[in-house]
Amino acid sequence: MDFKQQILQGIPAELPSLKSYDTTVSHAPKRKDILTQEEKKLALHNALRYFKPEWHTVLAPEFAKELHDYGRIYMYRFRPDYKMYARPIDEYPAKTKQAAAIMLMIQNNLDYAVAQHPHELITYGGNGAVFQNWAQYLLTMQYLATMTEEQTLVLYSGHPLGLFPSHKDAPRVVVTNGMMIPNYSKPDDWECFNALGVTQYGQMTAGSYMYIGPQGIVHGTTITVLNASRMQQGEIAGKLFITAGLGGMSGAQPKAGNIAGVVSITAEVNPAATYKRHEQGWVDEVHSNLEELFAKVKEAQTQKIARSFAYDGNIVDLWEYCAKHNIHIDLGSDQTSLHNPWAGGYYPVGYSFEESNKMMAEEPEKFRAAVQESLRRHVAAVNKLAEKGMYFFDYGNAFLLESSRAGADILKPDGKFKYPSYVQDIMGPMCFDYGFGPFRWVCTSGKPEDLDMTDKIAMEVLQKMSENSPQEIQQQMCDNITWIRGAKENRLVVGSQARILYADAEGRIKIATAFNQAIAAGKISAPIVLGRDHHDVSGTDSPFRETSNIYDGSSFTADMAIHNVIGDSFRGATWVSIHNGGGVGWGEVINGGFGMVLDGSEDAGRRLKSMLFWDVNNGISRRAWARNEEAIFAIKRAMEENPGLRVTLPNFAEDNMVDGLIKISFPFC
Ligand SMILES: NC(=O)c1ccc[n+]([C@@H]2O[C@H](COP(=O)([O-])OP(=O)(O)OC[C@H]3O[C@@H](n4cnc5c(N)ncnc54)[C@H](O)[C@@H]3O)[C@@H](O)[C@H]2O)c1
Repeated sequence: MDFKQQILQGIPAELPSLKSYDTTVSHAPKRKDILTQEEKKLALHNALRYFKPEWHTVLAPEFAKELHDYGRIYMYRFRPDYKMYARPIDEYPAKTKQAAAIMLMIQNNLDYAVAQHPHELITYGGNGAVFQNWAQYLLTMQYLATMTEEQTLVLYSGHPLGLFPSHKDAPRVVVTNGMMIPNYSKPDDWECFNALGVTQYGQMTAGSYMYIGPQGIVHGTTITVLNASRMQQGEIAGKLFITAGLGGMSGAQPKAGNIAGVVSITAEVNPAATYKRHEQGWVDEVHSNLEELFAKVKEAQTQKIARSFAYDGNIVDLWEYCAKHNIHIDLGSDQTSLHNPWAGGYYPVGYSFEESNKMMAEEPEKFRAAVQESLRRHVAAVNKLAEKGMYFFDYGNAFLLESSRAGADILKPDGKFKYPSYVQDIMGPMCFDYGFGPFRWVCTSGKPEDLDMTDKIAMEVLQKMSENSPQEIQQQMCDNITWIRGAKENRLVVGSQARILYADAEGRIKIATAFNQAIAAGKISAPIVLGRDHHDVSGTDSPFRETSNIYDGSSFTADMAIHNVIGDSFRGATWVSIHNGGGVGWGEVINGGFGMVLDGSEDAGRRLKSMLFWDVNNGISRRAWARNEEAIFAIKRAMEENPGLRVTLPNFAEDNMVDGLIKISFPFC
């Protein structure tokens, strides 16, 4: 059977042969054994409902063993044998290009060069799933291959509920991931309901098919490190940045450090991750001896060259060494996976990588205590260095939150965190509030020439726009032009022919319009998929990350993310998704995104204008209502240019008047 036939058959008519456990790929850690005996029976029933009863006697013991050995039922036997990658769009069997483009994006998220644990259908972040099992993948691909533009496919946490009649302007796919009744959204609820096979952790771009490899994060990390450096005194060259994590996303840190022009050290406890990044050229040197490492670092700082170093070891050992030897650090952060602290996201100091892996599966309570003790030491060392002038920021991995839960010395007397999140100081006021966010696109031809053409078009659009941009956003425009000019040279593509480019609403609409026209004119050879990271202006409500610079108390609400996805879906998105969890953890965030296929048609031109305008200005309006000055500036500007937009603006009350009144009315509080 060729590739197209295999897709069209969905679950094969003949039972495929059993697959051996492939030790050449990275596998997800064994998940917690959390289900009761009764629940384990339910998990088996749930898994078997995908298959005809004649197969149950063979599959039931096999799935029971998977549940026992890995804590989940992945249905490894049904993993297809064809190569998993973003094929050129014409290679997919489909009745509509929109569905074919979605198939391409799904396969990219499962590409071995892209995905973290491809056989467990995990794209990044340790638990960011595209599907829960291979039956869901096969059925979804089959539905996509057969659907028309008069249908919408509904996906519940990877499970394809089915195709429903709709219309050509409706999304082709609507995805929800991890939507729970709020009281059932604790980390162990994910362990339990995911093991039952009824929900999954979609992260952000894993379960929404919008992951574009580490490139996505390099741009955002470059912006963050660059602006964090600008906020410190003195020139950027020679500044030292220390952080942790060389995994899926965190692996972008050394490359971003180099692009921003600093000297960086990234600690990584898993040698496989360290050497992978080194081989890929994403980190310049690896060291496991701290004295040797710092001799090299000093040299790079003195010569003022941008250079990235990996420390093959635990970040806590690195911080404690710096604190003990009084080493001056300019910038500090952390990107271990603390959104997932008990299942492999954070490795405690004092234990080898292997010891930790064994402990988390066999002695979870002891492991939990070790992680918390490690976090207390971690914070103590960071505090010492911060007292001597280091600027430390949380980089969106729940470091501050989990450290506070571990009882680390991370809170100020007023109960707030000692350190800002990168969104509070940098990304929020400098980017999100003005509407700048991680816009991206994928060339479905798979041709690098098409990507080159899009880079050229995007750069020309931004250069033209920057001639008339207000002073307030000149720096962002300038940084984004520099980024897109160097994007090809920085060799960022892994997997699909994709590009990320921070842009505001006007930039996104103008770039997308120019792409659509270039497709119509034959300058770009195939449709383009537009999208963005959920980590954006409007896509995500997350009180300790994306909305951490919202100070009116509404950062614990999720209206914006929900409205965003609803609004996108009736303004022309090709697919939409809304997730619980992503970035900072299950129950801690609601985030959504979209995909939009541009095929050069007038319909696509109409849809992109309507949807992209809403997709950015929804968030700016909310940020303006929260009294963020930059967002008020941006939304007033948008209203001047668009008579149809009328947004409720806040009035400002005098602090003195409010303070005095509260003192009089509540004297004993
Ligand atoms: N700020 C952002 O824009 C942003 C974007 C994406 C992801 N994130 C968050 O960043 C975190 C990392 O994401 P990822 O995709 O790289 O995850 P990942 O799990 O692939 O990588 C984390 C790495 O940290 C390493 N690590 C864990 N504990 C360590 C320790 N004590 N010392 C040294 N290394 C240690 C792990 O071995 C792993 O390789 C996640 O929490 C994610 O949600 C933030």
